[in-house]
Amino acid sequence: MAHEKHEKSAKNNEKSPEKSMEKSNGAQPKRKAMIMETVLRDAHQSLFATRMRTSDMIPILEAMDEVGYHSLEAWGGATFDACMRFLDECPWERLRTIRKHVKKTKLQMLLRGQNLLGYRHYADDAVREFVKATVGNGIDILRVFDALNDLRNMEVAADQVKKEGAHLQMCISYTLSPVHTLDAFADMAHKMAQMGADSIAIKDMAGLLSPVDCAKLVKAIKAKIDLPIQLHAHYTSGMGSMTYYAGLEAGASVVDTAISPLAMGTSQPPTESLVASLAGGELDTGIDLEKLIPVAEHFKKVREKYSHLITDVGVDINILRYQIPGGMYSNMVSQLKELNAADRLEDVMKEIPVVRKAMGYPPLVTPTSQMVGTQATFNVVSGQRWKNMSKEVKQYFLGYYGTPPAPLDAEVQKIAIGDEKPITCRPGEKIESEMEKARNDASAWALQPEDALSWLMYPQVAKEFLPKKYARITQRDTGLNELVDESAYPA
Ligand code: CO
Repeated sequence: MAHEKHEKSAKNNEKSPEKSMEKSNGAQPKRKAMIMETVLRDAHQSLFATRMRTSDMIPILEAMDEVGYHSLEAWGGATFDACMRFLDECPWERLRTIRKHVKKTKLQMLLRGQNLLGYRHYADDAVREFVKATVGNGIDILRVFDALNDLRNMEVAADQVKKEGAHLQMCISYTLSPVHTLDAFADMAHKMAQMGADSIAIKDMAGLLSPVDCAKLVKAIKAKIDLPIQLHAHYTSGMGSMTYYAGLEAGASVVDTAISPLAMGTSQPPTESLVASLAGGELDTGIDLEKLIPVAEHFKKVREKYSHLITDVGVDINILRYQIPGGMYSNMVSQLKELNAADRLEDVMKEIPVVRKAMGYPPLVTPTSQMVGTQATFNVVSGQRWKNMSKEVKQYFLGYYGTPPAPLDAEVQKIAIGDEKPITCRPGEKIESEMEKARNDASAWALQPEDALSWLMYPQVAKEFLPKKYARITQRDTGLNELVDESAYPA
C-alpha cells in the first residue's frame, strides 16, 4: 500500500510540473509553456492525406525523444485507417514501434469518444476494449472528443481511460454560434473536470479561434477549474501562432505545434518559431532550439518525398469570412463543381447558418461538417429547402448522434423523420455488445487480439488488409474470396 501511495504522489507531481516547480527565494512559481509535437499524426494528416509511413518516422524518433516535448501525438482515426487502407501497415504495430523508440516522452492520441477511431458509434464493450488495448500498446494521454460536444458520448471512453490509469484529456470542440458562449464552454469544462478529466483540450479544428477569444476562453475556464489546458489549432486562417501566444499568456499550459517543414497551411503552427518566440521569457519552453534542427532536417526530406500530395494554401481567408473549416469549404467548392453549380457558392455559404440553426448549431467537425455542408448544398441546388436529406441527417434528427448544443428546429425535424420517435438516451445504449462478433468475424486472419478491433473500426478496409497481413506473416495464403462470404466460416 505504502509503495502504491508513493507511486501515486510521484505521478501527480509529474502531471502538473508548474506546481512542482521550485519556489526559490519566495518568487512566483515558474510557469513554462509545453509543446505537443503533431508531426506523427495531425501534421501529415492535414498536409498529405496521412500518408507518412512508419519507416519515415523511425530514424528520427530517438532524437525526438530527447527534445523535451510534453508529448508526441502519434495516433488517431485517419492514421489508423490510412495505415491499413493505403500503406499496408498494421496500426497497432506502428504504435508499438513508436513506443519502442520513444521511451521518455508521452505518446498522445485523439479518440472520437463513442466513435473511437471510426465513423459510427460503437457498443460500450468495444469502447472499453479499444481503450484498454490502446493504453496497453503504449498511449499515455487520450484526448477524447465528440462532434456534438455531447458529454454522454465521451462517458464510457473517459471512464475506461481512468480505469487504465492513463491521462484523460477531455476535449472541447470549439465553434462559433449564438449558443456557444464563454459561459457554455466554461460549464462544459467544469463538467469534464467532474468526469475525471486530468486536463482540458480546446480543439479548434477550423482555425476559427482568434487570439482575443482564446485568451477570454482560457480565462473563463481557468476561473472555474484548475486543470491544465492544452490548445489545438490549425494554421489555415493564419491566426494559429498568435492564438497560442494569447492562450498561453492567459494561462494555458500546452500547445500543439508541428515541426516547421510540416507546419502551417492546414497543419499546426511551427514548433521552432514558438520555442524561439518564448525563449528567455516567463513562458520559456525549456526546449533547446538546436535539438529541433535534426528533427526539422529529417522532416524536410519527408516533405519532399510527399510533395506531390501537398497543395500550398497559404492563408485561407474564407475561414475568416464564412467561419467554417477550410476543408469543408474546399469540399463544398468541389461538390458544387460536380453539380455544375459552381456559381451558387455564395448562396450555399449563406445557407450554412440556416442549416446549422435548424440542426441545433453543431460544431463543424467530422461528421457534422459533411452533413451540414451537403445539406446546405442540397437546399440551394434543389431550389427547395429540406427536399433532399441524407441518411445521416435523418439519423441526426433521430438523436443517434447525440444531443445538439441547441434544440432542433421542430418543423425540420418533422420533415426529416416524419412520425418516427427520436431517441433521447445516450446513443451508445442502443447498441448491443459487438466484440464477440468482431472476434468471430476476424478470427480466420487474427494474429493478435487487436486485429478484431481493426476489423471493427474499418470492416471494409480490414477485409482487404488482414488477409494480406496474415499471408505475409504466416507465409500462408488463406484466400481473399472466402473472407467476403461469411458463410464460408460457419460459427
Ligand atoms: Co487537428
